[in-house]
Amino acid sequence: MSRSGSAKVVCVTGASGYIASWLVKLLLQHGYTVRATVRDLADPKKIEHLSALEGANERLHLFKANLLDEGSFDSVVEGCEGVFHTASPFYENITDPQAVLINPAVKGTLNVFSSCVKTPVKRVVVTSSVAAVAYNGRPLAPDVMKLSGNTEVLGAICSRVLQVMWYRLSKTLTEEAAWKFSKDNSIDMVTINPAVVIGPLLQPTLNTSAAAILNLINGSFIYPNTTFGWVNVKDVAMAHILAFEVPSANERYCLVERVAHYAEVVKILHEQYPALKLPEKCVDDKPFVPMHRVSKEKAKSLGIDYIPLETSIMEIVESSREKGFVSF
Ligand SMILES: NC(=O)c1ccc[n+]([C@@H]2O[C@H](COP(=O)([O-])OP(=O)(O)OC[C@H]3O[C@@H](n4cnc5c(N)ncnc54)[C@H](OP(=O)(O)O)[C@@H]3O)[C@@H](O)[C@H]2O)c1
Repeated sequence: MSRSGSAKVVCVTGASGYIASWLVKLLLQHGYTVRATVRDLADPKKIEHLSALEGANERLHLFKANLLDEGSFDSVVEGCEGVFHTASPFYENITDPQAVLINPAVKGTLNVFSSCVKTPVKRVVVTSSVAAVAYNGRPLAPDVMKLSGNTEVLGAICSRVLQVMWYRLSKTLTEEAAWKFSKDNSIDMVTINPAVVIGPLLQPTLNTSAAAILNLINGSFIYPNTTFGWVNVKDVAMAHILAFEVPSANERYCLVERVAHYAEVVKILHEQYPALKLPEKCVDDKPFVPMHRVSKEKAKSLGIDYIPLETSIMEIVESSREKGFVSF
């Protein structure tokens, strides 16, 4: 294991989350000293898995910070060479999207960035999403997606149709605000834009993207008529570190190992677990939502060699079994 981070101090926001927990683990393995923020230091479910990581006793420091508390990241970020800003609410089916999703995501990011300008941070790596890239007014189609998201188009879709889209709007607005702030304040910023993240869980609670797979094996009779990009959480965490370490890293890194319809995910699950009861029918009789393609070139230039979807699916199932989220 490379010790590329020896003697370097970095900050991870939202450290108890799914992606961030893996990021903290890999940063510690690489020798970094990590200042990690969580919302509730008194909640063992948020901190025990972090404190148990190899190297945590010596090099992990936990801080309490909330995205909506102005200045709460100042003392954490002070003296850090790098800031990994992963904290952002990732919930669906919420009743007040402005308060629950958009304000913490957008205002919270500007709050973190305001702390970054007060100290000589070398680079800020922001966990964005392909959701911030995909909505540009064109249908997703087999041509390669590497374009920018469009908040006006997405805002119109959100108010008209699906409330699940609010999360996507929160990510698009956040990235837009972050780019503007970083340009206005000369912050060196890189974004990591993963598709749906799956693979093993470190934290003891179930997160939204892990549920996307587990919902298929909990007795459901139908699968969604949806096509997503999928990527392993370990690749996502590593991409954050490379985006900090590689001096030439810049702008956005979309991370997608494979684009696959839920029907294909069910097929892979069936091959891996033939005895498992899986949904046999799609939710509707419409044609399957078509495939789109996401450019892999840029992520490869960073040094990412993707873990295959089959492995990611098996890892999330096995990890969920160990943690008791599924029993079969
Ligand atoms: N998982 C995916 O498929 C996926 C794909 C693309 C992008 N992303 C992005 O990746 C990042 C991490 O997501 P995840 O999948 O790891 O989800 P997660 O496990 O739910 O983690 C989200 C983190 O954000 C923190 N957070 C939420 N609201 C906060 C607030 N007001 N103040 C401080 N912290 C707050 C949460 O803290 P608590 O633990 O206290 O709730 C949690 O640590 C997010 O920016 C998400 O948009 C995720």
